[in-house]
Amino acid sequence: MAAFRRFRAGKFLLYLLLAAPLLHVAVSLEPISISIGIAAASAITGYMSFPNFYCGRLVECCQVDTPLNSTALLVDLKEKLYGQHLAQDVICRALTGFMSNENPKKPLALSLHGWTGTGKNFVSKIIVENIYDLGMKSKFVHLFVSTVHFPHNSLIPLYKDQLQSWIRGNTSRCARSIFIFDEMDKLHPGLIDAIKPFLDYYEHIDGVSYRKAIFIFLSNAGGDLINRRMLEFWTSGRKREELQLKDVENFLSVGLFNNNNSGFWRCALIEKNLIDYFVPFLPLEFSHVKKCVLAELRHRGLEEDEELAFRVAKEMTYSPKENKLFSDKGCKTVSARLNFHL
Ligand SMILES: *[C@@H]1O[C@H](CO)[C@@H](O)[C@H](O)[C@H]1NC(C)=O
Ligand SMILES: *[C@@H]1O[C@H](CO)[C@@H](O)[C@H](O)[C@H]1NC(C)=O
Ligand SMILES: *[C@@H]1O[C@H](CO)[C@@H](O)[C@H](O)[C@H]1NC(C)=O
Repeated sequence: MAAFRRFRAGKFLLYLLLAAPLLHVAVSLEPISISIGIAAASAITGYMSFPNFYCGRLVECCQVDTPLNSTALLVDLKEKLYGQHLAQDVICRALTGFMSNENPKKPLALSLHGWTGTGKNFVSKIIVENIYDLGMKSKFVHLFVSTVHFPHNSLIPLYKDQLQSWIRGNTSRCARSIFIFDEMDKLHPGLIDAIKPFLDYYEHIDGVSYRKAIFIFLSNAGGDLINRRMLEFWTSGRKREELQLKDVENFLSVGLFNNNNSGFWRCALIEKNLIDYFVPFLPLEFSHVKKCVLAELRHRGLEEDEELAFRVAKEMTYSPKENKLFSDKGCKTVSARLNFHL
């Protein structure tokens, strides 16, 4: 803040210096020199805000102090994501709150849960694109896929060192770094221990502050719990949109905590409350799959064809057996199936 004021004061002095010759020129009424003066003034003030000029045009900059446009985020989530009213709401609130806080006490940690194809990867992409124009290609965004980046259990100690030094290195270069861990349920528990200190309430670790970083975990764990909840809700005759976060959230974190198969690793993170939000992704129904087909057609620049969307959606498998309510793969195979029809 002090530095900022000094900067403003400097700018004001500069205007005074510039204004003196301008006034002099104005008195002698020479339009050409006036315009030269103005051009010089704007060139110099432009130079003063040089970072604003080169960021985005010449090089990609770390967006540590850029506010989030939460309207744009909400519009994206509403228009591109189908059937996930809870995720829309939680993510928008979490991100807006975190990004507008100048002094967060810890990094933001979001854990997204749900069956495959319900939109977890898609949402992390939307989040990233709303912070960095280059999206997943940004050098400040790091994606780790358990089975790709950390496949061998025998190399866990090596992965652990690597991961810590990457997170440290990247966060010290840019405080607003984003780390996404896909297939979290397949990640070796030892690796979670390696991440845990970065998620905690430390002011800094060895001189690096992690408080403005964003960690996003994606996993299928808990998907069954969410689906069961959704089915109960449906069976009792209530509408999907009436489902509230409190109907799922506790149920989900307790369920994950007690699950010693896939969610086992989470114990310490949950126990110490290091995950800020558990975001449930609900199973998708026929109508949502149809919307996905239409969106895919639009994306390919083709005409929206209701009848085709109906046919493609009809081909997907749905469960449970009795009422065939939820798409087994969400919208995941929509694109491939569409190829078959075109
Ligand atoms: C935020 O996004 C909305 C919708 O995309 C847009 O209309 C508005 O101009 C943006 N605001 C700023 C400050 O960029
Ligand atoms: C940043 O992370 C990437 C992996 O996403 C890694 O390859 C790179 O070495 C890291 N950079 C630093 C400075 O640690
Ligand atoms: C997992 O939990 C169940 C009971 O909930 C228990 O019977 C089983 O032994 C546990 N498995 C392991 C590997 O701890």
